Amino acid sequence: MMNNTATKQILNQLIVDTTQLSMIVHQTHWYMRGTDFLTLHPLMDEWRDDLEDQVDELAERLIVLDGAPTATLAEVVAQTKLTTQPGVYTRTMTDRLDELATDYRYLADLYQQGIEITGDAKDDSTQDILIGFKTAIEKLLWMIESELSRAPKRG
Ligand SMILES: [Fe+2]
Repeated sequence: MMNNTATKQILNQLIVDTTQLSMIVHQTHWYMRGTDFLTLHPLMDEWRDDLEDQVDELAERLIVLDGAPTATLAEVVAQTKLTTQPGVYTRTMTDRLDELATDYRYLADLYQQGIEITGDAKDDSTQDILIGFKTAIEKLLWMIESELSRAPKRG
């Protein structure tokens, strides 16, 4: 296989940021209050399950490529590009969903970078995984943006 250093780096960045986003979704699950709680509270569990499945798939692909997946929270904190704030009960649901839209958009853009890197490296198998997850996140973004009465933004 060609030099795949860039592929390994983007896979680890995806692992780090997806792990961080999983925690952000957990915070949303715990701290949300207000209209739609009964719908959104269990929905956050599904979103977190999807993120955790994605992390596992990314990590195991990285191992297949002879890489080493990030596996400590200390590294996640040091390397994530997503910002966080302590949980508070007073944020509006709209504000929470807007933050999640921003974070998922960042992740979709990161996936696009990975798709281009693996395309250049002719690594079709890794690219296939990244395309699938980016497509799923874009569908989720459409739904979040619709909840916020906004059009889906293309990344
Ligand atoms: Fe729960």
